[in-house]
Amino acid sequence: MLLNYTSQRVAYPYFVIALLLFVLQVVVGIWLALSYAVTIPQWLVDILPFSTTRAIHTNLLVLWLLLGFMGTTYFMVPEEAEREIYSPFLAYLQLVLLVGVGVVALAGFVFGWTKGKPLLEIPFPLDYLVVVGALIFLFNVGMTILKARRWTVVQGSLFGGLVFLALMYLFNLPFYSNLSIDWYYWWWVIHLWVEGAWELIAAALTAWILIKITNVPRELVERWLYVELGLFLFTGIAGTGHHYYWLGAPRYWLWVGGIFSALEPLPILLMIWDAWHYIRNRRDGLKGRLVFTLAVGMSILHFVGAGFWGFLHTLPQINYYTHGSQVTVAHGHIAFFGAYVLLNVMFFYYAIPKLKGLAEFDERRGTLAFWCMSIAMALMTLAFSVAGVLQTYIERVMGLGYMTAQAQMRFWFAIVVVLGLTLLIGVVLTVVDLLTLRPAKAATVSP
Ligand code: HEM
Ligand code: HEM
Ligand SMILES: [Fe+2]
Repeated sequence: MLLNYTSQRVAYPYFVIALLLFVLQVVVGIWLALSYAVTIPQWLVDILPFSTTRAIHTNLLVLWLLLGFMGTTYFMVPEEAEREIYSPFLAYLQLVLLVGVGVVALAGFVFGWTKGKPLLEIPFPLDYLVVVGALIFLFNVGMTILKARRWTVVQGSLFGGLVFLALMYLFNLPFYSNLSIDWYYWWWVIHLWVEGAWELIAAALTAWILIKITNVPRELVERWLYVELGLFLFTGIAGTGHHYYWLGAPRYWLWVGGIFSALEPLPILLMIWDAWHYIRNRRDGLKGRLVFTLAVGMSILHFVGAGFWGFLHTLPQINYYTHGSQVTVAHGHIAFFGAYVLLNVMFFYYAIPKLKGLAEFDERRGTLAFWCMSIAMALMTLAFSVAGVLQTYIERVMGLGYMTAQAQMRFWFAIVVVLGLTLLIGVVLTVVDLLTLRPAKAATVSP
């Protein structure tokens, strides 16, 4: 038995559902790209408009990433708190509730039942059920930590990030009749999630993994974690201003948003430097090569996607041309993939072998899948970016029509389709591998 606490098992169904939704999300992504590359027959568009499939693609992404974070939390907290989860029953109940809401919401989109706000389409009253699910989760995790009376910086930061995440969602609930105000709060959720709360969660989970797979002293990791969290909050909160350029906010936001968001790559860079610092001299102490590969891949692509591709269009002088174009889409893909998809996959590869009682497993398929996914996503980002540059140049510099730009972009979307299929192969390989992990040769297996 490799688990220290039996209640860590509740994580497994979270992981399995997350993985299946991941496959579905990518399949829908390919359909989206196809609708740019070729002309879809009108009768099909009438049944499944682009806005609906886009909502399905992005909501699936958010849903599976959050289920992954929750499962991961349930796996990690018992070890940090050194006790069983407060209530495994509540953990299962919450999973059933959230997946139920997810399925109803996705089906609802097809019938036009949507709030219409990108990424947050889930309509009333389903979004209130999401809040109930989140409260059950926070209560369960909070009680586990409280009962244990064992405070660690890592689990404290994780819990802080999760509370921050849930609080921000509340700004999505009210109906704002003024569209400007509506978008203003929409960004509080979207931006303060991916560049605030989720970064805190990522930093805490990465710190924990580093403590587990290297022999680095916990105090050292924790000290840096404080610095990173402080910097993330400082740059991320004021950096929200890079979304206020276009929604009628006062002019000073151009400055605040531009300057602070341009500083956002710093904490990400610090996180890589920090992780590398721990790992560099401790290769012999490493437990598990694949998890290590994923940690490095994640750090690098996190920086490339969020730090570099984010910086590219964050200054008002550039955003003036690129706003809402395929340049944004390129950044959205590589940032989400590098920072949060790979973070989840890394954790799945850490936790699932333990949940299956495998001390060591055959890492070949997983390693291949990682490279397949990452290379496909990197190239896809480039293809989206070329399409984006064409779009901005033709529409916003030359001032030509929308369809003139689309005609030039089509070729690049055909390439995105091919790369998407390659990515799908990598994703399916990852999922199949994780669900059917095989022991490594000469490894010990215990039930
Ligand atoms: C892991 C972290 C990040 C993720 C997952 C992420 C993801 C996204 C996504 C999905 C959008 C598109 C939202 C929409 O319009 O529908 C977006 C927009 C944007 N992001 Fe990020 N982002 C991250 C970090 C950053 C950072 C660090 C910067 C700046 C250095 C940045 C700069 C921007 C800008 C300027 C936009 C608005 C683009 C526009 O005007 O169309 N992002 N981001
Ligand atoms: C891990 C894999 C993926 C992630 C993390 C992801 C993420 C996202 C995100 C965040 C958006 C919203 C973009 C924005 O508003 O800026 C989006 C939209 C989109 N995705 Fe993906 N996606 C993935 C896979 C795919 C694949 C494989 C394809 C196609 C081959 C694809 C094609 C698209 C398209 C065409 C859109 C719509 C862009 C638009 O509105 O013009 N995605 N995806
Ligand atoms: Fe942002």
